[in-house]
Parts: sequence; structure tokens; C-alpha cells
Amino acid sequence: MKIRKAVIPVAGLGTRFLPYTKAIPKEMLPIMDLPVIHFIVEEAVNSGINEILLITSKDKKCIEDYFRPNKKLENFLKLRNKKECLQQLRRVPDNFKLYSVIQKEPKGLGHAILLSEKFVNGEYFTVFLPDDLIFSEKPVIKQMLEIFAKYKKPVVAIEKIERKKISSYGIIKPKKVCNGIYDILDIIEKPPIEKAFSNFGIVGRYILPPEIFKYIRKQKTNIKKEIQLTDSLKELININGILGYEFEGVRCDTGDKTEYMLAIFRYASIKKELTKRFKKEIKKMFRI
Ligand code: G1P
Repeated sequence: MKIRKAVIPVAGLGTRFLPYTKAIPKEMLPIMDLPVIHFIVEEAVNSGINEILLITSKDKKCIEDYFRPNKKLENFLKLRNKKECLQQLRRVPDNFKLYSVIQKEPKGLGHAILLSEKFVNGEYFTVFLPDDLIFSEKPVIKQMLEIFAKYKKPVVAIEKIERKKISSYGIIKPKKVCNGIYDILDIIEKPPIEKAFSNFGIVGRYILPPEIFKYIRKQKTNIKKEIQLTDSLKELININGILGYEFEGVRCDTGDKTEYMLAIFRYASIKKELTKRFKKEIKKMFRI
């Protein structure tokens, strides 16, 4: 069963990055010369995904523009013989089909995913939450697809979460299967620390079965008038079971200002041409 589709919800308001996000989507925050969404789409495409659906808002058209060819610009660069610039343009992944659907108001992750039902069309599919930028040798969703191929069960990415951030994540009750792989026995969304089953939180990569839509549709909205995904995942546990996978890689939550800066530093540290001066200046700046 080959998984070919990815759903990426990008309709969120990005309030943690105001005023920047007043005019520019948080998914377009630059990690040096590439927007965050570039890394997410690249991870999908490099894992064999060839159809991507953005759950977007009408104010975020520039995300789609980024992935569409710009013939006018290309022709201009060709005319001026700007080979280097043309090469930079070609870094944008284009070997996939891009679709979009508008989420009129942010009503939670479950609601966003529900809008992908037609696109998913009865197949297993992947979900990427674009705040979670993960640097890894093998794309994380590829790692997860390999686990899916072996166990034929839905898979969610998990990570050990520091105590004070537990209440910002879906927290799982794990039962070890083998190194890095856990059966999920229960899930609780954003619990106070005393109600958390463990310190394993769900992070933004999922492999889901099409049955998930049935459960999301049954879901009632919470106090914030949102439909969460976690409640539907909970129902799935009893049907297919779900695996939690502790991925290999370093995650930066680009929705958090410090981690966003760390993502830029990490990217700079792997860009060889930058490393030397960058390290020197950072040492000077932080007196280390
Ligand atoms: C969502 C999910 C949560 C998960 C988190 C990962 O929350 O509801 O279970 O742990 O993503 O980033 P959000 O961050 O959208 O509030």
C-alpha cells in the first residue's frame, strides 16, 4: 500500500509572530533563504509523496505562489544570462501536484483535516504540521513510512517533551514494542502535568487511515469551539491501534521565537560556506 498524499494545514493565524504575520504567513518565515514551508514540502517530496493538499486561508495565497513556476521571472533571468539565480529558483520542489482548500475560520486541527476528505479519497495519507521543522538525515516521514510498511498501522511521531511544555502537546500512554516504537494505549490533549501519562508528546507528523474522517465528523467542538484531532486518534486506538515513533532528527518548533532562531542557526551550521564566519561572530556575540 503506497502512501502518496500529504495534507498540510496552513490556515492558522500565527499570532505568536505578530506583527510579522499581519501581512506574511508564518509558514513563509525565512530560514535564511528558504521559507519554513519549503523544508516541509521537501521532506514530503523526498519521501515519495507526490500529491500535496494545503488547508489554507484566502490571505495566504503567497504560499501557493512560492511553489508555482514564475515564467516572467525565469524569462527575465534567462535573458540576462543569470545562471546562478536560475539555479537558486530550481531549488523549489516542483515534482508534485499541489492542491488547496480554504478553511474559512481556524476551527482546530481536526476540522482542518476533515477538509481533506475528498482529496484523500479513501487512502492512507500523511499529515505535516509545518511549525515542526525537523532536521534529519533521512526525512522523518520516510522513516515513518518504513514503519508503516512493516506494521500496517497508523503512525504518529513522538518526542520526549520537557516538563514545562507538556501542557502544549498531545501526550501518549506508551507501551514499548521495540527501540523507538511504542503502541499507544491512550492519548490526552494538552493535559496539566499531573494528568500526563508520560513525557512523550505527539509532534507534527502523522500517517493516518481514511477512517479518521468518520471519527472527526462525530466529534463535538470543545470550549474554544475547535475540533481537535486527538479525540479522533483516541477512537482509532481501539480499531486499528496506533504506533508512536520516536524519530531520528532534531525538531525546531518554528512557532516558538527561540526555537525559530535555533532553526536558522542549525541550518546555517550545515551550510558550509557560512560556517566559519558564523561561528566566529556567534562566539563573539555570546562571549563564549
Ligand atoms: C497539535 C495537536 C497536539 C500535538 C501538536 C504538535 O496542537 O493537537 O496533539 O501535540 O499539534 O505540534 P497545536 O500545536 O496545533 O495546538
